[in-house]
Amino acid sequence: MAKKNIDWANLGFQYQMTAMRYVSDFKEGKWDEGRLTEDANVVLNECAGVLQYAQTIFEGLKAYTTEDGRIVTFRPDLNADRMVDSAKRLEMPVFPKERFLDAVHQTVAANADYVPPYGSGASLYIRPYMFGTNPVIGVKPADEYQFRVFTTPVGPYFKGGVRPLTIRVSDFDRAAPHGTGHIKAGLNYAMSMHAIVDAHVQGFDENMYLDAATRTNVEETGGANFLFVTKDHKVVTPKSGSILPSITRRSLLYVAKEYLGLEVEEREVPFEEVKEFAECGLCGTAAVISPVGKIVDHGKEICLPAGMEAMGPVTQKLYDTLTGIQMGRIEAPEGWIHVI
Ligand code: PLP
Ligand code: COI
Repeated sequence: MAKKNIDWANLGFQYQMTAMRYVSDFKEGKWDEGRLTEDANVVLNECAGVLQYAQTIFEGLKAYTTEDGRIVTFRPDLNADRMVDSAKRLEMPVFPKERFLDAVHQTVAANADYVPPYGSGASLYIRPYMFGTNPVIGVKPADEYQFRVFTTPVGPYFKGGVRPLTIRVSDFDRAAPHGTGHIKAGLNYAMSMHAIVDAHVQGFDENMYLDAATRTNVEETGGANFLFVTKDHKVVTPKSGSILPSITRRSLLYVAKEYLGLEVEEREVPFEEVKEFAECGLCGTAAVISPVGKIVDHGKEICLPAGMEAMGPVTQKLYDTLTGIQMGRIEAPEGWIHVI
């Protein structure tokens, strides 16, 4: 199929409408058979559950063109599983895993000419999501839902591409203990809007959130998990019940251990320890691994030895190996790559 005439190399992380999207409706206790449609608009009752009480969850994954010209997605089964967890936590019906995988497959296949070519540095971002559609005025779950998948071609998440970021420790919390930080619900992102706007006004790229209960341990940013590298090349990542279990982070830990032979630790990371690390990165589907050069805590600067010029050496190896697997240059572990 002929690719669309898009300036792939200069794409940012913005919505651009593609040809087709997938829709399925949940009514009277069951999902309908689902369909692809050209219609990008959603028409809802003024009192729809999602509009009043934010009953909405989502996922994010990407499709890539590999070196040998195939279109692939990366570990979509883990997005399906996480969406099940998100749905249960917000009292929403589960969209069955096999149907999630089929919906993602169909949507990517229907938009194949929007999947950026190999080597362009861009990818097709895939956004599955679900929301309560019927009128809800008393606080209770909706009875009717819509599941959708759309796609949009994207470039790097942070402006200026892959370059070391400056982040700050936030005075705002993102997630409470026993709250919803571990699921991918729209409400967590609404929570972070003020903090991110304020961070940008103050000249920072992102917020580092600490645990809300004690404000001593590192949690995550508004849209990515943390990876740290110690001076002796150990990969360390925060463990917490209130951060999103990033598929990228879980994959990178595997890559660090099995491909690069590095020691990995998933554990509480006291903020006090951060000044000892050699490298820091933000990892996620959108962020891939974005290196952090500087962390500012109320005026006190922590400058990572890796610096503001380029990625640190271990972060670079992790980045090269992960993207190599995703683009088909490096053999993937069994089951990681789904061919469209
Ligand atoms: N943390 C948050 C809050 C996110 O929004 C995301 C993005 O999905 C991540 C972490 C990274 O998760 P993943 O690697 O599964 O995309
Ligand atoms: C993703 O990485 O897929 C996300 O959902 C993060 C979001 C901030 C774009």
